[in-house]
Amino acid sequence: MARFQLLLLYLSLSLVAAQDNFAKCVNSTFDAVMTQHKGRLASAPWTSETNVDSVLQFAKGLKICAVRVNVTTNPNNTVAFEIYMPLNTTWNQRFLTVGNNAFDGGTLRLDMFAKVVHGWAVMSTNTGHEGTGLSWALNNDQAQIDWAYGAMASSVPFAKDVVAAYYGTHANSSYYAGCSTGGRMGIRQTEVDPNSFDGMLIGAPAWNVKSAMPVISRIGWLGKNYNLFGDALVKRLALQVYNQCNGLDGTTADLTIQDSTPCLAKFLNADIANGSVWAGLECNGTNANCVTVQQRQAFLTIVQEFKDPNTRNTTYAGDGFGIQAIGDLTTYLTAGNLDGFDQDFARYFLPAESRGLVWDSDANGAKLINASNAWDARVRANADPSKLNGWGGKVILYTGTADGLVATNGTRRVFDRAGGAGNNNLKYFEIAGMTHCVDNGNAPGGVQVPWYIGGLGLYLRPPGGTWFVADDLKNQTFPIGTKETDALVALVDWVERQKAAPSGTTVQGPTMIAASSFDKWPSTTSVGMQRWLCAVPKKQHFKGGDVRDKANWECV
Ligand SMILES: *[C@@H]1O[C@H](CO)[C@@H](O)[C@H](O)[C@H]1NC(C)=O
Ligand SMILES: *[C@@H]1O[C@H](CO)[C@@H](O)[C@H](O)[C@H]1NC(C)=O
Ligand SMILES: *[C@@H]1O[C@H](CO)[C@@H](O)[C@H](O)[C@H]1NC(C)=O
Ligand SMILES: *[C@@H]1O[C@H](CO)[C@@H](O)[C@H](O)[C@H]1NC(C)=O
Ligand SMILES: *[C@@H]1O[C@H](CO)[C@@H](O)[C@H](O)[C@H]1NC(C)=O
Ligand SMILES: *[C@@H]1O[C@H](CO)[C@@H](O)[C@H](O)[C@H]1NC(C)=O
Ligand SMILES: *[C@@H]1O[C@H](CO)[C@@H](O)[C@H](O)[C@H]1NC(C)=O
Ligand SMILES: *[C@@H]1O[C@H](CO)[C@@H](O)[C@H](O)[C@H]1NC(C)=O
Ligand SMILES: *[C@@H]1O[C@H](CO)[C@@H](O)[C@H](O)[C@H]1NC(C)=O
Ligand SMILES: *[C@@H]1O[C@H](CO)[C@@H](O)[C@H](O)[C@H]1NC(C)=O
Ligand SMILES: *[C@@H]1O[C@H](CO)[C@@H](O)[C@H](O)[C@H]1NC(C)=O
Repeated sequence: MARFQLLLLYLSLSLVAAQDNFAKCVNSTFDAVMTQHKGRLASAPWTSETNVDSVLQFAKGLKICAVRVNVTTNPNNTVAFEIYMPLNTTWNQRFLTVGNNAFDGGTLRLDMFAKVVHGWAVMSTNTGHEGTGLSWALNNDQAQIDWAYGAMASSVPFAKDVVAAYYGTHANSSYYAGCSTGGRMGIRQTEVDPNSFDGMLIGAPAWNVKSAMPVISRIGWLGKNYNLFGDALVKRLALQVYNQCNGLDGTTADLTIQDSTPCLAKFLNADIANGSVWAGLECNGTNANCVTVQQRQAFLTIVQEFKDPNTRNTTYAGDGFGIQAIGDLTTYLTAGNLDGFDQDFARYFLPAESRGLVWDSDANGAKLINASNAWDARVRANADPSKLNGWGGKVILYTGTADGLVATNGTRRVFDRAGGAGNNNLKYFEIAGMTHCVDNGNAPGGVQVPWYIGGLGLYLRPPGGTWFVADDLKNQTFPIGTKETDALVALVDWVERQKAAPSGTTVQGPTMIAASSFDKWPSTTSVGMQRWLCAVPKKQHFKGGDVRDKANWECV
């Protein structure tokens, strides 16, 4: 009797153990797919239980399987990708590719982690190199091409088959999320293979690399020449912009400049020497907050559209940063020494004959623009947003209006080229006051306007610790996981409602998404304020009352 019960217990325990696929997280599961795609496991698969990676250690108990693959199709450079996969019992049957940052290499384990704990199988490439900075690109064409599109092109179909090997079935649907370079890479991949994704969440895409890099070079030079990039000076200018323009949309109580364009006009129309927009910044011999007339002029140059000296300043050369972006510009400019991100592109990506060009005059600006165009014709990094017009998938596009790394106007251009509000498969949200991809905490006056909508780049930190706690995510103390507050969830909802709809019908996408900010970000994640963002061309409007409550916001 007792023996019989033990046997039953043993049998049921084995059944419980056999109910998930964790035991398949071993080399042999992936042999066939490695052969098929000419790749190699870079190491034996590891898991959140074996705790070999600094990120997955927070997911103990969730039994996540991690695989790193070397793609060996091109002998001139090795691309690698990594994938985190949840148990088949918690898998949401979806595949997600996350895009990368700037010119950096390496997989984005933090972004992968933030999604795998919500049931996604998530992939990230290393873009064809490891490490940060731009020096890896010097004399390395294949690495540049892999960063431009090659790594993504070879990894997406491969990783989908890795997923199928682990679960015994392909994912039902495939998504993409990326901001900045990651946004560019997503659009670029749909040009390589329109079937890669069913939906994309694209933040502030750095799609126009070839134009942006010369513009940034010129900003670096202006910064140096006019000593404009002392951190304190930039913060003073940002606060001045905020104080002068917050009321232009009819109220200061919304704590936001809704639109930069009338703000710029206000500054341009004022007397540069002593107009009232400069009040408090006078250089009168005793004012520690002094901003000189030359500095004011340089500032106003930076926040206007850049013109091409090749055509004697009559055509667009690259998007200007909106006037609200000034506080964010220090991110990539080292204090005026022409030695940072602003000049590294010409230093490391351009061929020997144009290496190190700086836009410090019309003549050199013209040369830099041409060299950059020639570079792109070879490496094919620029993404073409017009390809999104007529593309089969759905796109949610967003940007901050205070972005100092990828101009807000550049993202508006993406929206327009992709068909604008006439494209029923595209929704575009502007996040008033947000800097590049996340709020970096440099908000003028310390006002953290709501910015978080589930895009990449948010890493939850446990109190007193680093990175995330899976508990935070599981408990959802944080407004994640609803289609109201998370654009990726809204995208999934949209795509999957479309799939379920009768053919020939077009399902409408989200028209409102609530953005959140956090009290004491980044040390805690309790929600501070929320407000509705509105799919362009609608605009958000504060109705009055408690500014922190999204119920007091509407789309008009
Ligand atoms: C998970 O995988 C295991 C092992 O392959 C299988 O027995 C089980 O039915 C699967 N469960 C689900 C929910 O797919
Ligand atoms: C994977 O690629 C890296 C970088 O090229 C290389 O160092 C490593 O030896 C490769 N691993 C395998 C198993 O091929
Ligand atoms: C699994 O593959 C990796 C990478 O090729 C190799 O280093 C490791 O020895 C293999 N492990 C087993 C158990 O075969
Ligand atoms: C590898 O580089 C060599 C030398 O630059 C080039 O001739 C060759 O075409 C490249 N191979 C591939 C597959 O790109
Ligand atoms: C995925 O597809 C399977 C079979 O086609 C279906 O049963 C399942 O509900 C789908 N899952 C999701 C999350 O859509
Ligand atoms: C402002 O500057 C203009 C010249 O640019 C001058 O004519 C005017 O008097 C100045 N106003 C004040 C109040 O200083
Ligand atoms: C100089 O400008 C500052 C800031 O506007 C002002 O507070 C101060 O009184 C001015 N000093 C003189 C001597 O005008
Ligand atoms: C942004 O584009 C609009 C419309 O083309 C233009 O009026 C505005 O000056 C541009 N702003 C910047 C900073 O380039
Ligand atoms: C182009 O504009 C810049 C100011 O932005 C000016 O310095 C330059 O002289 C102009 N060049 C031509 C050819 O008009
Ligand atoms: C840049 O290219 C344009 C168009 O091809 C050409 O007209 C112009 O002369 C070139 N400028 C320089 C400085 O080479
Ligand atoms: C999450 O919930 C667990 C169980 O209720 C609790 O112990 C833990 O403190 C919670 N974590 C957070 C960050 O609230």
